[in-house]
Amino acid sequence: MTLILGNSVLELKKIQTGTVDLIYLDPPFFSQKDYASNSGTDNKNYAFSDKWNSLDEYLTLIENILIESHRILKDTGSIFLHCDKYASHYLRCLLDKTFGMKNFQSEIIWSYKRWSNSKKGLLNNHQNIYFYSKTNDFYFNTIMCDYSPSTNIDQIMQLRERSNTGKTIYKLDESGKPILTNSKKGVPLSDVWDIPFLNPKAKERTGYPTQKPVILLERIIEIASKENDLVLDPFCGSGTTLLAAKRKNRKYIGIDISESAIELSQKRLSENIVTNSELMNNGRNSYITKKDKELSILNSISAVPVQRNRGIDGFINNLTSKPIPVKIQKQTETINDALDLLIQATNGKYYEDLVLIRTNQLQKQNLFDSILNNKVHIVDSADLLIQSAVCK
Ligand SMILES: C[S@@+](CC[C@H](N)C(=O)[O-])C[C@H]1O[C@@H](n2cnc3c(N)ncnc32)[C@H](O)[C@@H]1O
Repeated sequence: MTLILGNSVLELKKIQTGTVDLIYLDPPFFSQKDYASNSGTDNKNYAFSDKWNSLDEYLTLIENILIESHRILKDTGSIFLHCDKYASHYLRCLLDKTFGMKNFQSEIIWSYKRWSNSKKGLLNNHQNIYFYSKTNDFYFNTIMCDYSPSTNIDQIMQLRERSNTGKTIYKLDESGKPILTNSKKGVPLSDVWDIPFLNPKAKERTGYPTQKPVILLERIIEIASKENDLVLDPFCGSGTTLLAAKRKNRKYIGIDISESAIELSQKRLSENIVTNSELMNNGRNSYITKKDKELSILNSISAVPVQRNRGIDGFINNLTSKPIPVKIQKQTETINDALDLLIQATNGKYYEDLVLIRTNQLQKQNLFDSILNNKVHIVDSADLLIQSAVCK
């Protein structure tokens, strides 16, 4: 459990050969930018520079770090180098040079959603993490994941064997029926990791520029080390790797050239604050909150569904040049409640028309003021129209 203030090129030389189990490094990316931000809570300014005189200067630093990293890793150890589009291609060559091409294990694509009206071209929504082992005898813990929804679980649960010609076939019992197994194992974790970026309000966010999510580091630590192993981060920044290592009961060493980074790492290690990601815990489908009935109403009017908004269920985009918000009255809402929610959700946004779809008779009167002030069109759902017609 050590935090070191200093230049990693020099500090790594002081670490004994063959003593570290896992190295994760998230160095400057050769973006040629200065990074600065404010923590907001303690008003500290955190900054580091990623400006270089030349690509050679940058690559020399990284190569020196990789040479020392290779020396201090155990034979069972691994290194994970985090980078992005700026220099990933050069860094992979350096890793091949220092660790050997045969020890390349994976290129992990850390993928996340980020919305931006970016300039011409594709929106960059991923970073790269190169995983190399020191030798072929590296430690690796396979993590199994759920099958994708399109997987035919029925087929997976049937035992297989090799035929005389080497083909994989279903194993049959004496009566010729397939033999079922209930040992559904799942699929091994892939090299594309869908992990959300820390959102600006996440309580885990420290204000340190380029801070990575603890959950990303916990995953790396879990697959490439055991409890009590030693994890090292030579560019520890806000201390994300160290916190993840502590939470997973690993020993850790963090090095950074910036005093405020080391102070912040110390603070984070004592506070142990991590944001729970709904996306990670419950999957992307947990954001889909619309019921089938609401989706079918939205489909029938060609509206695009909106999730997690109590006042707007969707937008009609094809009737006028401006989108029209639609709210569907819920079974438990009076039409007044539904109208209030629609008006609150659209307040100050200057929509020209609002549509409220009435689905039941839970109704109070006196809607006229709100309707007059906000061009709300209240229309009955097809169900309700049929119900009223039949009951007449
Ligand atoms: C991309 S940030 C790391 C962010 C970190 N992974 C996190 O989650 O907060 C890179 C860090 O490298 C540090 N750094 C740059 N050059 C260094 C060097 N030669 N030795 C040690 N640290 C260095 C910077 O101060 C900065 O904190």
